[in-house]
Amino acid sequence: MEREKIILDCDPGHDDAVAIMLAGKSPKIELLGVTVVAGNQTLEKTQINALNVVQCLGLDVPVYAGCGQPMIREKMTAGDIHGETGLDGPVFEPLTKELEKEHAVSFIIRTLMESDGDITMVTTGPMTNLGMAIRMEPRIVPKIKRIVLMGGAYTNGNVTPAAEFNIIADADAAYVCFTAGRPITMIGLDVTRKALCYPSIVDRMDKIGNKASKLFVDLMRHFCKSQKEVFGWEGGPLHDPITIAWLIDPSVVETKPMHAEIDIRSVQSYGRTNCDFFGYQKLEPNADVGIGIDADKFWDMVEEVLRMYD
Ligand code: RIB
Ligand code: CA
Repeated sequence: MEREKIILDCDPGHDDAVAIMLAGKSPKIELLGVTVVAGNQTLEKTQINALNVVQCLGLDVPVYAGCGQPMIREKMTAGDIHGETGLDGPVFEPLTKELEKEHAVSFIIRTLMESDGDITMVTTGPMTNLGMAIRMEPRIVPKIKRIVLMGGAYTNGNVTPAAEFNIIADADAAYVCFTAGRPITMIGLDVTRKALCYPSIVDRMDKIGNKASKLFVDLMRHFCKSQKEVFGWEGGPLHDPITIAWLIDPSVVETKPMHAEIDIRSVQSYGRTNCDFFGYQKLEPNADVGIGIDADKFWDMVEEVLRMYD
């Protein structure tokens, strides 16, 4: 079976950690590397979190540190959800895995340039690393098979009424990626808010009883608590792993082709993914935007992959 080659660019982040879990073990995915960006927390913290998750899961995957600042705007983080460390909850063994010496942006450029155009870029944090790579070496653009991102929304945002965190945290980088002309799958809040990790889901995964399920439980107990405190929700939307789930089985998410533009000009709507759901503007669609999810199939997939760990 042909495995989907991906680079996962992330800002761990509780839900990023579950995306690493799925990408690292699914037989349908070949995880070439994890690249890290500032987002949920500072780069100094997200890079450590990525190393801890990869080490804890026993994955033989290189981790590269990337950009610690957005391309232009001031940095923003999400400690209210992910905690002071960016991955509050789990207690990890002493960290021995080290970052690769190469910068994440250089790794992305080198790997794409050496490829046959068969690598999918998955981003589950601000799109700074990919945006910078495209600007530094435009020749990588035709080499990107597809960009699959967790980000945006054609309905309401979660930082402002208009904007979702991964986009508003570096809207300029998102603009570069959305105008690059490569196929895009946008897994936005419209879909991820339908995959709420309720305590019953946590209990279900706890029954697996291996290292991955323990990490999942330790992560989600914190994630659900913070979602309740911030949004009053019983369960937290598990945003990022839905990108990987879509790659494993595209039937898990229903998408609709739309013309999607990143608003980098306005004030109130800065960072919005303006998705033309009804095609009013008669513009060529540039993104397949998630509009529905089979949540049961998603949670079955999460359980199936978690069971593959020792
Ligand atoms: O808005 C949700 C997204 O922002 C998720 O990727 C979460 O991890 C944060 O990066
Ligand atoms: Ca993320």
